[in-house]
Amino acid sequence: MPTSTAHHRRIVVTTALPYANGDIHIGHLFEHFITDYWVRFQKMRGNFCLSICADDTHGTPIMVAARKQGITPEALIAKTFAAHRRDFAAFDIAFDHYSSTNSDTNRALCHEVYQQMQDAGHVETRGVRQSYCPRDEMFLPDRFVRGSCPACNATDQYGDQCEVCSATYSPVDMRDGKCALCGEKPVTRESNQHFFKLEHFRDFLKQWVIDGVDQEIVHKLDEWLQDRLKDWCISRDAPYFGFEIPAQPGKYFYVWVDAPLGYIATTKEWCQQHEQDFDRLWKDAGTEIYHNIGKDIVYFHALFWPAMLKTAGFTLPRRIFVHGMLTSEGEKLSKSRGTFIRAATWLKHLDPEWLRYYLAAKINGRISDVDFSFNDFRARVNSDLIGKITNVASRGAQLLQRKLDRRLGSLPPEGRKLVAQAAAQSEAIAAHYEKRDFSKAVLAIRAIVDEANRYCNDAVPWESIKHDHERARGTITTMLNLFRIAAVYLKPILPSYCQRVEMLFAEAQPFTWASAQETCEQRTLNDFQPLLTRVTAAAVTRMGKETQAEQQAEQA
Ligand code: MSP
Ligand code: ZN
Repeated sequence: MPTSTAHHRRIVVTTALPYANGDIHIGHLFEHFITDYWVRFQKMRGNFCLSICADDTHGTPIMVAARKQGITPEALIAKTFAAHRRDFAAFDIAFDHYSSTNSDTNRALCHEVYQQMQDAGHVETRGVRQSYCPRDEMFLPDRFVRGSCPACNATDQYGDQCEVCSATYSPVDMRDGKCALCGEKPVTRESNQHFFKLEHFRDFLKQWVIDGVDQEIVHKLDEWLQDRLKDWCISRDAPYFGFEIPAQPGKYFYVWVDAPLGYIATTKEWCQQHEQDFDRLWKDAGTEIYHNIGKDIVYFHALFWPAMLKTAGFTLPRRIFVHGMLTSEGEKLSKSRGTFIRAATWLKHLDPEWLRYYLAAKINGRISDVDFSFNDFRARVNSDLIGKITNVASRGAQLLQRKLDRRLGSLPPEGRKLVAQAAAQSEAIAAHYEKRDFSKAVLAIRAIVDEANRYCNDAVPWESIKHDHERARGTITTMLNLFRIAAVYLKPILPSYCQRVEMLFAEAQPFTWASAQETCEQRTLNDFQPLLTRVTAAAVTRMGKETQAEQQAEQA
């Protein structure tokens, strides 16, 4: 895959880096599917498109999780890395490179960018009063302190913001603040920290967000950009798991500094491994860089990140694709309700392709939340993916195999017209993919197989085969050509399924987007193998139960 083909687009796509202290769950998968459908589509179109991701390995929560397990942070992140890779592969999420933010490449990059921030006068150092837990012997992040809100006295609030009155404050202002880890009362300690002067970038950011993010998000950002932007504290005190700041013993880069830089470092590693020119990807305005993120991390990606990139002279993202949250049964994913489903638990009970299909049919490129409902999931997969789409292939191919030596004939005139219509959908469906409106792509694909099913029901090949083999062969050739074109369009969403379709059709080459323009006549097909089975209610229930049991085990 060369980085420089004259007439093709050059694209780098990233997905938010999952934290290395947690398992991949269906919320992550939702985001990774958005990226993966899109990247696979771009590749089928012949574009250069690099899919980049990594584990986000640094920060206090990861250090604390390792302590709890009695292992080093390095051991913890190695263990998670393997598990994450396994889960993504099982769900057919293909990265060009998946790395870790705890890499030498990322450390060097982090030092370099920090130096540039300093040289440009964007870093200020000053003393800060912070909460320190004497028992745990560490500074406590705001979220690790709980107590009463200094504004409204609501009890049991986090140390940064009150969930009752929305006031924001520092944990040192809570009279009865307690360490969330051990319950001890924290002490206040003063220490020097480094701040990034985000305010220096206000005019630049105001301009940048206009094209950089969706209209819906610009609105929110505009609100923030009205007022002076707060300095961003980019350092943390030891003990901390992260990169130490050069010449500042005991001071570390805050995880959100080195995490997004992981996008660049991971690309750099890919370039080294594939002898490709890094500058062509991250220092050339001709590269289209896109970040896929959830709406919860917009502030980091739409304000801090462009400011960092600008300081360091990297290419700014062409756009940040923001999505809403995956909910289940209308609520936040929850372990106790059995809806916070880990990827690994899903794999024990259900086929990953079912989820790829179901979510594609619901994702529309907008920022609203998307709901996963167990009953709806089973109904949609069984009636659409199995009952409509897969059924065209199994009806046609099985009849062809039983009675007609597996050989396709010529398209009859009506069939040729239908096939041409399906082929003519190519650019419309491509436009849906381009806009990440996968739900519209799925609708259009379903319309093609609906046409095939209707045609088949009218032409009744199982009747005509009794007295006119060639007529039945023509009908089946039409059905299977329509199915094949639908499969080409479906391939970014269901790559493995469509590989089985390629096998069935004895394709010489894997499908590309252009394969939808070919007709398939006088070809002998391979043996028919079932493409996909139905979802059973029992399997779905088992998975929900197991998710609940996992929570109970965790609490015990
Ligand atoms: N490590 C940071 C990202 C750093 S990027 C430089 C992080 N990690 S995360 O594991 O908490 O989340 C990773 C991504 O998954 C985020 O974009 C987040 O929005 C997304 N999702 C997590 N739960 C989700 C849902 N329930 N639904 C949709 N996306 C979800 O944030
Ligand atoms: Zn403590």
